Amino acid sequence: MENMLHLTPSRGLLPDEFIFSPDQLPPAISAAGVSLPVVDMSRSRDEVRRAILDAGKEFGFFMVVNHGVSEEAMRDMEAVCQEFFQLPAADKAHLFSEDPSKATRIFSGSIFETGGENYWRDCLRLACAFPVSDSSKDWPDKPQRLREVVEKFIVLTRGMGMEILRLLCEGMGLRPDYLEGDISGGDVVLHINHYPPCPNPETTLGLPPHCDRNLLTLLLPSLVPGLEVAYNGDWIKVVPVPNSFVVNFGLQLEVVTNGMLKSIEHRVTTNMAVARTTVATCIMPAADCLIGPAEEFLSEDNPPLYRTLTFRDFKRIYNVVKLGSSLNLTTNLKNVQKEI
Ligand code: OGA
Ligand code: NI
Repeated sequence: MENMLHLTPSRGLLPDEFIFSPDQLPPAISAAGVSLPVVDMSRSRDEVRRAILDAGKEFGFFMVVNHGVSEEAMRDMEAVCQEFFQLPAADKAHLFSEDPSKATRIFSGSIFETGGENYWRDCLRLACAFPVSDSSKDWPDKPQRLREVVEKFIVLTRGMGMEILRLLCEGMGLRPDYLEGDISGGDVVLHINHYPPCPNPETTLGLPPHCDRNLLTLLLPSLVPGLEVAYNGDWIKVVPVPNSFVVNFGLQLEVVTNGMLKSIEHRVTTNMAVARTTVATCIMPAADCLIGPAEEFLSEDNPPLYRTLTFRDFKRIYNVVKLGSSLNLTTNLKNVQKEI
């Protein structure tokens, strides 16, 4: 618990374990003209389908507006998450755990095993089965509104995610419900990320370069910038757009589509001035769901590029991030899958 960053006012110097060498931290390109596309989901279904597929193929990431999650649900969620991190330590101590198998916990740093480096992030992880039931029992009971606000947020955000999956399926010529069922039917997991102001943002990161291991991630991004996305061997900054979500493909979507949709590496930078709180909603496969390249994506010219694994095994194997490895970890994914 003592290592939770938001509970320890920073003493002006960044501890050594947070400091990376400059070659591990290539700066983002100022990227004149390169920014993530913004898809307006209130346009015609045809337009939205095309925009999502084009943006997804080019970047693996895009922003959505007019997505059906009400502004009230977004503001309530932001407020309750900020309130959570402002609670006194005593109200949160029982939630602290470094055991990644715990469904509900607070912890600091990355969920991936690293070479010992620390990352400037605190996280509240919450999970819930879908449809939402009393699985929320062990969620924090403070702030008082948390359970109600989070439940409502999850229902709306998952609904948006499933709609995006349907649009992607249609765009790829599949049945609209192709990605329903076990592959998207695991627990919905929330990572409520909190990046406190950092004394020396140039020398550290909030999150290491990583790909999300789930099917689809929907990020409530905060108006404070910090997210950067790998693009053509560089990093581009995501400029926050009010009332948007940032959507990105998880590795399971890359595997199922045999690489047609790529899960792209991203990282988080910190800043000295203000705390940043974001909420990543992860649509996950069920733990024992077997996932491999689907027949529809295979042919003589397109042999399977990935092995078939249960989601449980995938997570066990794919939990190491090597800073300074190839920019696009999907290459590593292939190597990892070949090794087993
Ligand atoms: C994540 C993530 C980005 C952010 O939680 O996996 O990439 O900007 N978050 O907080
Ligand atoms: Ni991520």
